[in-house]
Amino acid sequence: MSAESELRGKIVRMGALLYNRQLAHGSAGNLSVRLEDGSILVTPTNSCLGFLTPEQISRVSPQGELLGGDPPSKEAFFHLAVYEERPAARAIVHLHSTYSVAASCLCHENTEDALPPLTAYHVMRVGKLPLVGYFRPGDRALAEAVRSAAREHRSMLLANHGPIVSAGTLEEAVYAYEELEETAKLYFIIGDRKASPLTAEAIADINRVFPS
Ligand code: 13P
Repeated sequence: MSAESELRGKIVRMGALLYNRQLAHGSAGNLSVRLEDGSILVTPTNSCLGFLTPEQISRVSPQGELLGGDPPSKEAFFHLAVYEERPAARAIVHLHSTYSVAASCLCHENTEDALPPLTAYHVMRVGKLPLVGYFRPGDRALAEAVRSAAREHRSMLLANHGPIVSAGTLEEAVYAYEELEETAKLYFIIGDRKASPLTAEAIADINRVFPS
């Protein structure tokens, strides 16, 4: 089986997993992987992540032209922008999962890191989570705002929209996304109670032992 067919199968399986875990609903969200030649496989626009087929997945050039499959996600341009800025990134997950989107709708004092570092796994898998200002889905200006955040960050939270997480493989990007959703859930469960996030020293220690 070619590397591309394997990755098409993986997008289908991961899409179904995320849908069955109720992290994706309706036709919201998109997944992508980068191929060796720099083109990307990305989920088609208006598709349900729970019911993808390998052949329908779009292949898009680094310039954004459709090379095969169904018409691509309207967010293909922000996927391409993240890949351009992050040479080690090979996969991206963007979903509208409930707790993360709820966090994206709050007023944030610290827009450089929208959620507190509550757990070691959040620090390891997600890292800092800058808040990107609101733009309409599919807006090229959104792709440019995502590009700026991606220079320094593997994860980000789009205001009134949801997270984008990138990683070296699709599995890693999915695990990081799930970790982020769990942190957002913890954040709301803790609510107004005084939390005790990890200290700067603990975060530095995690980053030293588990570099991203
Ligand atoms: P697409 O259906 O075009 O992928 O858009 C869904 C989405 O999540 C927009 O942000």
